This record gives sequence, C-alpha cells and structure tokens, in this order.
Amino acid sequence: MNTEETDVLVVGAGVAGLNCALHLPSGMRVLVVCKGGPEESDSFLAQGGICVLRDEGDFDGYFEDTMRAGHYENDPDTVRCMIAHSRETIDELIARGVRFAREADGALSYTREGAHSRPRIVYHADCTGREITSHLLRAVRQCANVQLRPRTTMLDLVTDGAVCTGAVLRENATGRVYVVRAGNVVLATGGVGGLFRHSTNFRILTGDGVGVCLEHGVAVDHADYVQFHPTTLYTGGRGRSFLISESVRGEGAQLLNAAGERFVDELLPRDVVTAAIRAQMAQEGSAYVRLDLRTVRGGAQTLEKHFPGIVRRCRKAGLDVFSQPVPVVPAQHYFMGGVRSDLSGRTTMPHLYAVGETCCNGVHGKNRLASNSLLEAIIFARRAAEDIAVCGSAKGECSVDLAAYQKYARHERARRALVAKEVCNERE
Ligand code: SIN
Repeated sequence: MNTEETDVLVVGAGVAGLNCALHLPSGMRVLVVCKGGPEESDSFLAQGGICVLRDEGDFDGYFEDTMRAGHYENDPDTVRCMIAHSRETIDELIARGVRFAREADGALSYTREGAHSRPRIVYHADCTGREITSHLLRAVRQCANVQLRPRTTMLDLVTDGAVCTGAVLRENATGRVYVVRAGNVVLATGGVGGLFRHSTNFRILTGDGVGVCLEHGVAVDHADYVQFHPTTLYTGGRGRSFLISESVRGEGAQLLNAAGERFVDELLPRDVVTAAIRAQMAQEGSAYVRLDLRTVRGGAQTLEKHFPGIVRRCRKAGLDVFSQPVPVVPAQHYFMGGVRSDLSGRTTMPHLYAVGETCCNGVHGKNRLASNSLLEAIIFARRAAEDIAVCGSAKGECSVDLAAYQKYARHERARRALVAKEVCNERE
C-alpha cells in the first residue's frame, strides 16, 4: 500500500481541526484531511454564536449555567478551563479578522440563548459559524507547513503496539487507499448526525473518529448522550434539517401549540424544551409545533438585521415570519459523548488526540449549553496542538514514556471519577 509521511495528521476540517493545525509549530509538516469539501463541516452551519465570559463577575454564573444544563455530569475542571480561556479566544478570533456584531459605541453585542442566566454570546448575524470557520480556513491556507486535502475518508488507524502511528485513508474520487504515517494523529471528525434520519448535521458526519476508536480499544464515553435541538424548520421533506437558532427564542420568539398558546418556558435547557415539544406534539397528534418570531424584541428590524438567513430560508419554504408562526420540530443536533480526552485532547492511546465534537472531555456533561460548542472546540484544539508541540512524536524522538502515559491515563480516570462523586455528594 502507498505510504506517505507527515508529522501531524489532522482528520477533519471544522473549527477544531483547523485551529489545531494553526497552532502547531510552523516547523512541523501538517496534513489536514476532510471527508467532504472544506466547507462541509458543521462548524460552518453554527448560527447562534459563541459564548464568552463577559467579565470576572460572570465566572460563577457561566460555570453554573454550563453545569446545570449538563445535569452536573460535566467535568468541573474542564468547564473552568474553557471559561477561563474564553475571552482570549474571542480576542484571537477578532485579531484574525472575525467580525462580531457591535453596539453603536463599538462594544461587542451579546445575545442570549436557552439556559443562560444573562446574555453572553457574541455573534455575526445568524451565521457565526460561517464567519469564524471561513477565517480559520483562510488562515490555514496561508500556512506553508499545512496541506489541506478534502474529499478524503479515514478508514482506520495505524498502530504500533499500543501507540498510534498513522491512519489509513481513501481518496473519495478514485477509491485509492493509502497509509499516512504520522508522529501524531488528531481526530476532529465531528458529530454523528449522518446516522439519524432527522439531523441538522451534514449527512457525511457519521462518527468516524468514534468508530475507529471503538475498534482499537480506545476509550469512548457516553455514546448515548445525543442532543436534539428543539427548533428545526418542519417541511415534511427529507435531507438536512434547517436550524432555527435558539437565539431567536433568546430574543423573544415564542413556542405555541395548535391553539396558539405558549406551553413551555422557551429559555429552559434544550433537552427540557425538546421534551416539552414532543409531549405537546403527542398530545395534539401533530408533526410539529409553532414558533412565533413576531414577538422578537425590536420586531421586523431585528429579524432582518440579526436573523437574515432564517428569514430567507423560511421565505424559500413559503413562510413569511413577519406575518405567521412557522412550524418547527426537534432534530438531532449534537453529540456530547465521544472519544475520551483530557484537557490537552489526549485520548487513552498515546499520540492519538481527539478534539471538537468527536471527543468527550466532559465539558458539556449530559446536555450541552447553547453556544459552548465552537468555543470548546477552538480552545481544546489549541491545547492539543500545544501538547503535541512539547511532547514530540511516535516516530523515534518520542518523549512519551508508554508506562508513564498509562499511569497518567489511569490517574486521569480516577480523578474524574472522584470529581463526579464529589459533585454528586454536593448535590445530595
Ligand atoms: C443555535 O443557534 O440554536 C445553535 C447553537 C448551538 O448549537 O449552540
């Protein structure tokens, strides 16, 4: 089989894969592959925005909101780490040219979504993911040490004993199968929505990173922690479900039953709102409930300025959000489970990292808080890159002692079990 060599192989080109590549030392050869085109990652689809710690006084509130939404199954250290690095992350994105909505005086505008105790989400209209990801993609394309190779599917990992040394890839167009040997492999393969009939995800996202890890005995946690977004546009058709961002509810949109009455607090955590919608649908024998955007604060002007993509997509479906509620239904949206990883993206296999939606570092617990996903992916991908930079590779100059690594992995598991127990005790 043909074999190539690189220092780091990154599988996936959403914000996690791209930001990891951007933070690897420029002296390392980096190959980034992705299954579809470079714009076919869920990062491009994210609408609502990206969370940030507004000020030091917001730390406890942000922490508690994330933990409560996650049913206190989150890893508190990971949550603290994400919050602590949020402001510098937004600053770095701005420095890369990412444009966020601003007030008249130039200060950042903040929007709100479900389960947030205050507005702390920065955004770019209703296409924040596209704005961020396209800037990261542009930056990666300018890196002389990074090669981006789209339409390439990862089939398997290559291992040497218990150590990851590369991956088996397939060129989609020709079917050619080849091996890339790498000092480190980073899985950033995204979510699992392609496995569900109704999902907001690209259909090509089928949990490939989780699949290869299960085959190689790499630890995977909470494979059943799947999030359903409460409000996707109901069309009765097939294909990817179109999201109606939670930030429309954050800005005042209301969920209505067939009688035109509200039946749930729209700003409860996602899993609670989804359950209430499903119960309402069952009671009515209906395939959807209704979302009224006419109650959004600021009215038509806000809808046109903050949510132009949603207004346009509804219009395409023959729905005028200015004069009628639109039909919505829950659909699969996000995977909180995944390949077990620590604060540096390390998995239980040396030289194999997992970042972004494919990993489970415990930050989201059982139910992700809205707009924490881009932030988490960007921060922990950078940390993985920094870890790779200091830890070396599996190709000879390896600075990871296998026995020490396994001891470290055992210690990490024990620490997390202890933290989980403490959190449970605190709640009792
Ligand atoms: C949304 O805009 O409702 C989705 C944002 C997210 O998934 O966090």
